[in-house]
Amino acid sequence: MKIKKIFLMCACAFGFTCVRAQVTEFRPAQMWPDTNGEHINAHGGGILYHEGIYYWYGENRPDRGFSTEVGVEVYTSKDLMNWTDAGVALSVSSESGSPIERGCIMERPKVVYNKKTAKFVMLFHLELKGRGYEAARVGFAVSDTPTGPFRFLRSLRPNAGVWPCDFTEKDIATARAQKESDYKEWWTPEWRVAIVKGMLTARDFEGGQMSRDMTVFVDSDDKAYHIFSSEENLTLIMAELTDDYLDYTGKYIRIAPGGQNEAPTIFFRNGKYWLIASGCTGWAPNKARMFSAPSLWGPWQQHESPFVGEHANRTFGGQGTFVLKVPGKEDGFVFMADVWNPRHLRRSRHIWLPIEFNEEGTPIIPWRDSWSLDQLK
Ligand code: DGJ
Repeated sequence: MKIKKIFLMCACAFGFTCVRAQVTEFRPAQMWPDTNGEHINAHGGGILYHEGIYYWYGENRPDRGFSTEVGVEVYTSKDLMNWTDAGVALSVSSESGSPIERGCIMERPKVVYNKKTAKFVMLFHLELKGRGYEAARVGFAVSDTPTGPFRFLRSLRPNAGVWPCDFTEKDIATARAQKESDYKEWWTPEWRVAIVKGMLTARDFEGGQMSRDMTVFVDSDDKAYHIFSSEENLTLIMAELTDDYLDYTGKYIRIAPGGQNEAPTIFFRNGKYWLIASGCTGWAPNKARMFSAPSLWGPWQQHESPFVGEHANRTFGGQGTFVLKVPGKEDGFVFMADVWNPRHLRRSRHIWLPIEFNEEGTPIIPWRDSWSLDQLK
């Protein structure tokens, strides 16, 4: 790295033009250099398009280790291929005891723009320093500008003291009747039934529902939703945010209870909402799961994984993080994923692939070694 910098400085000093090669196509799962030639360090990320510029927010990961030492990184681009590192959007805190103290874990940040307040709002999965993945919280941060610095507001477990909006009085009573102490072993048929009936919803009712892998979706009416893995990663939850996107309205549903889905991504096309998630196998890839619904409030129906071809059963080695509806393209959707490299998380590669649709309008994602935006409809 040092040698490269010295070479560039000398080259410039002697009057050579310093032009870095442009990225001209997407190369899924290859190293992806930013405009400084460094592999893009924005993992578990998402894209915001604002006033002609794309912003890619993601986890700034160290080369070694699993905790967050820097924060959430943001990159900017005008063409989705050439990205400039715009620095740390949300920094860890050096204050001991802060929920975002250096050494915490910040994952899967997503930023949305709130038209009413003219603020950029970041939600991210937060784990407290030294507590592994047990805290299972969501963090909120806010900024007046897309590159930040974002100001950390608070972290919490969503919807404390609130039942899912589709739970009847009878469902509530049934959920309350399920007790973890009645099940010495996980994964038995009886235990699974208890999970579906809301055993963990009831367990976490007072303190709020667990919140790990997550995304944020803004619908066409500007209402925003937080979709996250809850209940020990067994159940997805979709929760409506307040108009300023900084809190919950209390309206939420459980999706695929007991289905063990994480890494949720979501998009809307031709009257249907599509949700693509992964299974739960840590950093290792697994077969993706797909759901659709006519409304965000359901009913959600499960489909086959959209991935086809060789290695489709392992999502081509990746785990989803975001679906980008490409502005200016009538039918252009890009599935973004991370190829996790747990030994060197910083070097985890990115998979971006166009989503195709069959005659019934069902998403299909085949592998491509390379592709460019003009291939999108
Ligand atoms: C899978 C999740 O999707 C990642 O974001 C990360 O939390 C890893 N698990 C940690 O094992």
